[in-house]
Amino acid sequence: MARIFIVSNRVAFPDPERSARAGGLEVALRATLKHHNCVWLGWSGHVAPRGTKPQTRTIEHDGNSYIVTDLARADYEEYYNGFANRVLWPILHYRLDLAEFSRRDLTGYLRVNNHFAEQLEQVLKPDDVVWVHDYHFIPFAKALRDRGHRNRIGFFLHIPMPPPEILAAMPNHDRLIPSLCHYDLVGFQTDNDASNFARYLANELHMLPHFPRGQGLDDRSTRVGTFPVGIETEQFNRLARRSAGSAFVRKLKDSVPGLLMLGVDRLDYSKGLPLRLDAFESFLQAHPENRGKITYLQITPKSRSEISEYAQMERMIDSAVGRINSTYGDVSWTPVRYVKRAYVRTALSGLYRAARVGLVTPLRDGMNLVAKEYVAAQDENDPGVLILSRFAGAAAELTAALIVNPYDHEAVGAAIGKALNMPLAERKERHAALWRALLKNDVSHWGDRFLSTLMGRASPRPAGGFQPAAARLGAQTRTKLIPPNAAVSGLFSVDSP
Ligand code: G6P
Repeated sequence: MARIFIVSNRVAFPDPERSARAGGLEVALRATLKHHNCVWLGWSGHVAPRGTKPQTRTIEHDGNSYIVTDLARADYEEYYNGFANRVLWPILHYRLDLAEFSRRDLTGYLRVNNHFAEQLEQVLKPDDVVWVHDYHFIPFAKALRDRGHRNRIGFFLHIPMPPPEILAAMPNHDRLIPSLCHYDLVGFQTDNDASNFARYLANELHMLPHFPRGQGLDDRSTRVGTFPVGIETEQFNRLARRSAGSAFVRKLKDSVPGLLMLGVDRLDYSKGLPLRLDAFESFLQAHPENRGKITYLQITPKSRSEISEYAQMERMIDSAVGRINSTYGDVSWTPVRYVKRAYVRTALSGLYRAARVGLVTPLRDGMNLVAKEYVAAQDENDPGVLILSRFAGAAAELTAALIVNPYDHEAVGAAIGKALNMPLAERKERHAALWRALLKNDVSHWGDRFLSTLMGRASPRPAGGFQPAAARLGAQTRTKLIPPNAAVSGLFSVDSP
């Protein structure tokens, strides 16, 4: 059986010295790691001290191999802090205003991609399949193709793909984005992302999407599909049931007067935390009768602290929390509890179950697994209410949540009021619909769906293909071309499991 090479910046490798940080990716890949012979390649999480050589380690565990490499200081600055997180992250989250482009960072980004491709080719065999994850490694397939490798290579973007009008504002986009066409399969979280990519190819590169005939992969085309990441629904529910009875969760519940509203987000401007706090403030202002009856717990572990926008965001949130607490709080009630540390999944699952309201209002998010985990954790007989941003990828599936526009803080404030007062019957009805949506897309099949499509064994709807205009003439008899300005959304329906 072919080996599966997984390439991602963070690697969840077994390490006795530190807990691995791959979060959602680790859960998403669990079934793949269990059922295939995998080699997972990426960053060790260490930066080599100046003057020392970055180390590479190979770890064998449970039939899989993990190859992790330190980054040199310059690589960390230019590739990770630089191009990946100061250019691609903001632009792919529709934040052109926050992007800080430099040619040096782009060079560092390409250098690190080439470096990882070199490492991989030392162990790659012709029938191995390569699965590349996220914005850190967009040009990875090109780096392998340039070295003559013809393996099946797939790419999955965990974060959003913005419209071409935004993408084209990125300097050198025409060097980078077209390199996605070196993959055999490019997967997105939502139809909207896939459709934006199709429009980019049509508008900028005059490449026409077409419907491939039959199930097999056409070697000359890149397939594009939607593969929304799910969670382990039943397992998470069991975890939450156990955790809800723990001393940790009981202590929290005892310390909170009234109901609990919960938000859990990595510290990031894409999460919309200042506006979310404004929304809570609007709610307290408009409904004084609720003061003292609801506590908003926001758990926000710090991330990417060396990037100035993140430090600035931290100060903004600190000051908004202080303002709300000093304006509305009293001796026996603190309206907002803001915690900057990270909690393990078990503890979080119990907190989700204890919260009457889950507040998930990112300004833009690829998927948002917190929304899904909040739903999975609920007690079906007394479920909480999910308030979800329409701009999270999860909103495409979780339509029975209270869907809000996170920029409209008064509307989000009103949704908080609605969630708190929602009758049990409606809570149960909404929760049942959300639970069905989760089960329909359980993550245990996610990896298989992607890999089967990549290997050409299955073609889950919709999988469009793209060919350069020059190459498409001979293909016209076999494929149905879609004009570049047509409503290509017809091509990209949700890839249901
Ligand atoms: C998002 C990205 C991941 C990334 C994670 C944490 O979920 O899609 O690729 O690993 O954020 O960010 P960090 O920069 O700490 O890896």
